[in-house]
Amino acid sequence: MNFRMDKLIIVFGEALDIVEQGLLGASTHHGKRIAALCAAMGRKIGMDEGKLITLACCALLHDNALTEYIMAEQKGDSHDPAMKLHCEYGQRNIESLEFPGDIKNLILYHHERADGSGPYGKTDYPFEAEIIGIADEVDVNWHLQRRSPEELPQIADFIRDSFRFFPETQALLMSVLDKDMLRALKDDEIDKTVEKLIPPWEMDSANPRLPEITGFIGHVIDYKSVFTKLHSAGIVEKALIMAEYYGYGIPERNLLSLAANLHDIGKLAVPAEILEKPGRLTREEFRQIAVHAQKTADLLTGLTDCGLNEVRVWASNHHEKLDGSGYPLGKTGDDLDFNSRLLACLDIYQAVREERPYHPARNHGDTMKTLYGMAEQGGIDGGITEDLNKALGS
Ligand SMILES: [Fe+2]
Ligand SMILES: [Fe+2]
Ligand SMILES: [Fe+2]
Ligand SMILES: [Fe+2]
Repeated sequence: MNFRMDKLIIVFGEALDIVEQGLLGASTHHGKRIAALCAAMGRKIGMDEGKLITLACCALLHDNALTEYIMAEQKGDSHDPAMKLHCEYGQRNIESLEFPGDIKNLILYHHERADGSGPYGKTDYPFEAEIIGIADEVDVNWHLQRRSPEELPQIADFIRDSFRFFPETQALLMSVLDKDMLRALKDDEIDKTVEKLIPPWEMDSANPRLPEITGFIGHVIDYKSVFTKLHSAGIVEKALIMAEYYGYGIPERNLLSLAANLHDIGKLAVPAEILEKPGRLTREEFRQIAVHAQKTADLLTGLTDCGLNEVRVWASNHHEKLDGSGYPLGKTGDDLDFNSRLLACLDIYQAVREERPYHPARNHGDTMKTLYGMAEQGGIDGGITEDLNKALGS
């Protein structure tokens, strides 16, 4: 069975937009807006479908290293070594993605400029990287969702005078940035625009490499906090062991690993000071962290109709408990299917095994004591707890 990879990237890009908005004051839907602009430019020059998908998806993911190198983007200094690393890590994070188009290094070179003043000092970088660069800069500086057609000449002057892009890229941008495009980039239109301009990217859920292909998602989320730097990756690893233990076929194994990668995507919307707080959390801080489960559910609504609805359900339920004491919805056992229960157990197992500001890393035996206690109280599934003990103990 196929699912829509482009929809998954759009959802992930939306989460990155929240980070970029919070930390850099970027506009709402920034990633989607530059993806739409890039796709429009690509279409204008007759790019084939594979390249269009690659360009638009790289635009959505252009600042995926934000959680690792936010300061670089904040200072905007292209000679800062961190700026170079932000490009390098952003490229490396998505290297496993197997894009359909034959174009490379678009994120690596998204801050290169025609006068050689970018972090790598190159002037012969891919044209498509410059398309992302110019769309990014124009949206960061002009917040295009708020502009009126009367301002288009000023935007054109600004691009010509203040930026260091090749004249043909400037001309290409201004050839697509007209009155209709400004309308299509507004917050209430952007989803439709993206849907119209980015061609569907189908992915087979039986692709044996899917856990590696989608692993970058968990990696970027994990980097939001040093305390969780291996959290999603740890759950993915254990989800794969459990899938093997239960004899799952490849598609179900893959979808479970994707849910594990996505489960804490809502944490991207939680302030880093709270995630990073050394010591016990106050009730209010705990409430703010708990909001991440609702944010995960909200962000993943974008996966409802693209072949990933089960992934959405499993990931959104990861803090629900069988006895109704979980969050965000206080569901009970009747509403929680097997993989939702499994992911909830794996999340607790992994968290207890990790070092946290308020507890040291625990070994398998001590971790299982915590899980058995929770199962006895009716919060988590006793049978799955037993299976975790058998499958993860060796
Ligand atoms: Fe950037
Ligand atoms: Fe950006
Ligand atoms: Fe969580
Ligand atoms: Fe988690």
